[in-house]
Amino acid sequence: MLRHTPVLARETFENLPNSFGRYFDGTFGHWGHVEYLLNHREEQHPGQKVEVIACDLDQRVMDKGEVFIGKRNKQVKLLHSSYAAIRSIWEQEGKFDFMLLDLGVNMEHFKDGERGFSIKTDADLDMRFNQDAKTTAKDIVNHYSLQELVRILIKYGDFSEKSAEYFAKGIIEERKKKKIESTWELKEILYNLHCNQKKIAVIFQVLRIETNKELEQLEQFLQDFPNVLTKWGRCAIMTYHSIEDRITKFAFKALEEGGKFRLVHKKVIQPHYKEVEKNKAARSAKLRIIEKVV
Ligand SMILES: C[S@@+](CC[C@H](N)C(=O)[O-])C[C@H]1O[C@@H](n2cnc3c(N)ncnc32)[C@H](O)[C@@H]1O
Repeated sequence: MLRHTPVLARETFENLPNSFGRYFDGTFGHWGHVEYLLNHREEQHPGQKVEVIACDLDQRVMDKGEVFIGKRNKQVKLLHSSYAAIRSIWEQEGKFDFMLLDLGVNMEHFKDGERGFSIKTDADLDMRFNQDAKTTAKDIVNHYSLQELVRILIKYGDFSEKSAEYFAKGIIEERKKKKIESTWELKEILYNLHCNQKKIAVIFQVLRIETNKELEQLEQFLQDFPNVLTKWGRCAIMTYHSIEDRITKFAFKALEEGGKFRLVHKKVIQPHYKEVEKNKAARSAKLRIIEKVV
């Protein structure tokens, strides 16, 4: 019985390459996909051994994962690292037959009131996946210039220039009076700027993306992963945000046009409504898979 249902797990792992031995999970999270693979590999690939290298930026996630998965499964190795460091992971660990990124936050991030990801709990405005990283959401809110705030609101939140400027100016006016420290202080400021709950959630997501440089990390991975796949190896990327999906789609298209890769499915894979009914987190998931053919 699985403790947590990973998104699009069946669709991901029914696309494993025929010869499959080495799996890289770049977003270990609460190890849902790793656990699914370990539980199902015998049905799909009887007798084949699998070696798993998994990483996550979040040290707390890695500590829990070590206890529940790492220590119990000798074939699983956990690294506290960004998937964007795939080049150096390759130098240390070798190539992979299958690679998966399941981007974004894990549900524990929202549930953990201290981390500042959720608008539902009052917490320090932190939002770092990696507790060793320097920049927090608080730094962004209190120190970014008007232009910088406008840029991220337009780019990651799809706000019009007019709305982005309105919210950015509102935040700057408030921080002149008092440093913005917590999630609820920011929520209150946005609420007073006539921001509804949905828009507040979008602005929190913008801050999370910027705090963790999520798009830059993805772009770095997309640049480096082609060298790290074995021949006939496959890479699967699951996104929850339209920009991440667009970046992935264009990078995969360019690889296919280069002649050394093939899209495994022409159309993006999305969850069945029954999966969404059971797991709301799956509702905006999009999965793309590419195969290395030479
Ligand atoms: C959606 S969750 C993964 C869930 C996991 N597949 C599961 O089923 O339990 C995304 C995870 O990626 C991690 N993460 C985000 N950016 C990362 C990065 N650049 N490198 C490594 N991990 C990252 C987050 O800390 C989070 O735990």
